[in-house]
Formats: sequence, structure tokens, C-alpha cells
Amino acid sequence: MPATPPVIDIRDVTRTYGEGPPALADVSLSVRAGEAVAVLGPSGSGKSTLLNLIAGLDRPSEGSVTVAGLRVDGMGEARSAEFRRTKIGMVFQFFNLLDDLTVTDNVLLPAQLAGLPRAEARRRAAGLLEHLRIDRHADAYPGRLSGGERQRVAVARALMNRPALLLADEPTGALDTASGEDVRELLAELNADGQTILLVTHDLRLAESCATRTVELVDGRVTRDIEHTPAVTR
Ligand SMILES: Nc1ncnc2c1ncn2[C@@H]1O[C@H](COP(=O)(O)OP(=O)(O)OP(=O)(O)O)[C@@H](O)[C@H]1O
Ligand SMILES: [Mg+2]
Repeated sequence: MPATPPVIDIRDVTRTYGEGPPALADVSLSVRAGEAVAVLGPSGSGKSTLLNLIAGLDRPSEGSVTVAGLRVDGMGEARSAEFRRTKIGMVFQFFNLLDDLTVTDNVLLPAQLAGLPRAEARRRAAGLLEHLRIDRHADAYPGRLSGGERQRVAVARALMNRPALLLADEPTGALDTASGEDVRELLAELNADGQTILLVTHDLRLAESCATRTVELVDGRVTRDIEHTPAVTR
């Protein structure tokens, strides 16, 4: 049987900004379907740069970035936006929810942008809200929710178009201990259900509880790449 192609295939990527040292230097990284990769490293080591390259929000100076079978590094603006809409879901430290839309309408947004029929989109949104245990807040506005609940809504929104890859930049960075634990468990559950995840974090507990693999960056280079069993599995 032919091996399934990797979800992320980064080859010999360097990203330099101006005259400074490279933010990423000759990085190669391949992520298979079903992995949950935590990218760790000190501030300024290139973690967000890596995430932006994978999401097609930035372009490498050298090398190639292939995600879900698509070459991301050469895409123009329109194709790159469509790629993000259809192939990846993104979760951010500060949730990035729209405060004047209800929880349901926030979650529906990606499906509307992708042109999914309304009835099907509503069914899928309701299913996600139930699965992520925030259905009782379906008609609330995000401003009324706790940090952990808001991040659950953001994850539901990210999953709306069934992305091949879920990307997260410090998803527990703005949460208190209990909410952080809640989001760690949620990400671990999603990965146990097969969702491929790549997250950037300073939160070692998040890496330990949810990741199947830890990649460490220092000065734009991969200094460690270790596979392990997440502590929390269902
Ligand atoms: N748009 C940019 N212009 C110039 N330099 C940049 C730009 N973006 C990132 N850099 C530089 O690239 C390096 C890596 O930055 P990056 O944001 O990827 O680090 P990080 O690992 O995400 O750090 P943190 O943990 O603080 O978020 C840093 O030296 C940063 O100053
Ligand atoms: Mg960063």
C-alpha cells in the first residue's frame, strides 16, 4: 500500500527578515495524519514564523511548504485565503471571536464563507457545539462566556469546515488554570478522534497532555524532535 502523504511537508525552509539572522534556518519537518505536534522553544526562536508559513500567511525565503498536498509557498493571496478556509482551522491565544455575533453565528461563519448550504451548516454547527459541550451557550454572545468557553467556541469555529489540520498559537496562553486544563483536554480528545494538530506553546503541560510529538526550536533550528504518548488519552 502506498504511504499516505504527510499533512505537513516542510523542506529546507529558511526565512530571513532584512539583515538580521534567519527566523528559521534550514528547517525540514514532516507531520503525518493523526499526529499532534507541539512546537516549543524560547521567545524569538521562530515558532510563530513556522506557523505562519504553514498557514500560508507568510512565504519562505528558501525551501518549500506543502500542506494537505498543496504547495503553500507559491500561492497568491486569493488561493492562499481559500486554502486557509478549506484545509486548515486556526485557534489563537486571544480567541479572535466576533463579539457582536452569537456563539452559533461565530461558528457558522467559516461555512458561510465556504458557501456551505445554510441548513447543513446549522446542523454541523449544532453538532460541534454539542460535541464541545458549549451548546447551552449557542445563543449567547462571546462576551458573556469564560475564557475556557470562548476558546471552545474558537475551536468549534476552527473545525467547522473539517480541516485537514488544526493550527493553534498559544491556545492556553490567556487562560486561567482550570480553563487551560479544559482546553488541554479538549485538544487531546480531538487528536484521539483523529484530528491532526500542530500547536505552538510555552505551556509544557499542554505539550505533555495533548501532543504525540514535541519539536523544539532554538534560534530558528530544530534542536529536538521526540515522539511520545500523550498523558491524557481517552
Ligand atoms: N515581520 C517580521 N519582521 C522582522 N523580524 C521578524 C518578523 N517576524 C518575526 N521576526 C523575527 O524573527 C524571529 C522569530 O520570531 P517569531 O515570532 O517566530 O518567534 P516566536 O518563537 O514565535 O517567539 P514568541 O515565543 O515570543 O512568540 C525573531 O527574532 C523576530 O524578531
Ligand atoms: Mg510567537
